[in-house]
Amino acid sequence: MKLAVLGGGAWGGVLAALAGWRGHEVTLWESDPVAAAALERDRRNARSVRGFRLPDAIAVSGALAPGVGGREMIVLALPSHVVAATLQAAAAAIAPGTAVVCASKGLDPRTGATMADTIAAAVPQAQPVVMSGPTFAQEIWDGLPAALVAASRQPEGAQRLKAALGSERLRVYTSDDVAGVCVGGALKNVVAIAVGCCDGFALGASARAALITRGLAEMGRLTEKMGGQAITMAGLAGLGDLVLTSTGDLSRNRQVGLGLAAGESVAQILARLGHVAEGVGTARTARALAERLGVDMPITREVAAVLFDGKPARAALTDLLARDVGAERWSS
Ligand SMILES: NC(=O)c1ccc[n+]([C@@H]2O[C@H](COP(=O)([O-])OP(=O)(O)OC[C@H]3O[C@@H](n4cnc5c(N)ncnc54)[C@H](O)[C@@H]3O)[C@@H](O)[C@H]2O)c1
Repeated sequence: MKLAVLGGGAWGGVLAALAGWRGHEVTLWESDPVAAAALERDRRNARSVRGFRLPDAIAVSGALAPGVGGREMIVLALPSHVVAATLQAAAAAIAPGTAVVCASKGLDPRTGATMADTIAAAVPQAQPVVMSGPTFAQEIWDGLPAALVAASRQPEGAQRLKAALGSERLRVYTSDDVAGVCVGGALKNVVAIAVGCCDGFALGASARAALITRGLAEMGRLTEKMGGQAITMAGLAGLGDLVLTSTGDLSRNRQVGLGLAAGESVAQILARLGHVAEGVGTARTARALAERLGVDMPITREVAAVLFDGKPARAALTDLLARDVGAERWSS
C-alpha cells in the first residue's frame, strides 16, 4: 500500500516505521524544516522516542501536496489543533476514497468537532478512520505488545487500517462507534491531568481510582451527547487509554497534573515536556462544548479552571470532593 504519515514527531515516526516494516511504501511529512532535515539526515529528530531510527526505505517530505498525492492511506499524527488546516491545505491532492486515519487525540478547538468530523468536513471525498487506545509510542517502538481500536462508519475503513498496521504485537480491534472512540481519546487526557494533580498531592490510590471512575462517567455523558455509545468508554479507547494515561509515568498529560501540583506554571511544564500535551487544549474546548450541550462535566470544568482561570489545583480538587454525592449512574 502507498501510505503517507503526516507528522514526524514521537508517534508519527513510530507509525511510519511500523508501516515500513509491514512492507508499505511510506512517505513521512514533517512541516518543521529543521525536524524534517534531521529525519532525512540522522533518521530521527528531537521529538523522536528513545533509540528511534527511521528505516532507510521511508522517504521524508517537507512538501504537503506531493507527500499525500497518490496515497491510498494518510495517517495523521499531528496536534489536533492543526489537523483541520493541514487537511484543508492537502485536500485537493487527496484522491476520492483515500482512507484518512486520525491518530491525533483531541477536539478541533475552533468548532469542538471530533477528529472524524473534522476530516469529513475538510476532505469530503475521503473515508475517515480514527485510531485510539492505550499505546505509548516509546513502548511500541521498543516492541512491547499493545492493542488499539480503529473506528469508521463503513466497516472497510477500519479493516483497511487493521490490515495495514495490525500484527501480533499491535492488536487492532475494529469499531463502528466513531464518535465514542474520538471522545474517549480526547477526554482521557483531561482526566489524566486531574489524576496527575491528585497523585501530586499524594491523595492516595483510593482517590485516584475514584477520579478515574468518575472521569469515565463524564466521558460517557459527553459521548452520548456527541452521538456515540457510552459503553464504548468500557473499551480500549475509553477505560484502556484512561488507565494508561492517568497512571503511566510516560504520559505527558499526567506529567502536566504532577507539575501543577508541584507549583509549576502551565508554560513551564509545556516547555519542559517539549512535546504536545493534548489535554491542555482539550480541557478548554471540552468545557465550552459541555456548556453548549448541557452536559455535566465537573472534572473537565475544574481542570480548565486550573489551566486557564488561575484556580489553584488544590482548591479544584477540594471543590470536586465537596460536590453533592448523588446516585451513581453509568450515563446521563
Ligand atoms: N506519543 C504517543 O505515545 C502518542 C500515542 C498515541 C497518540 N498520540 C497522539 O498523536 C499526536 C501527536 O503526538 P506526538 O507524540 O507525535 O507529538 P510530538 O510533539 O512528538 O510531535 C508533533 C508533530 O506535529 C508537528 N506539528 C506541530 N505543530 C504543527 C503545525 N502547526 N503544523 C504542522 N505540524 C505541526 C510537529 O512538527 C511534530 O511532527 C497527538 O494528538 C497525540 O495525542 C501520541
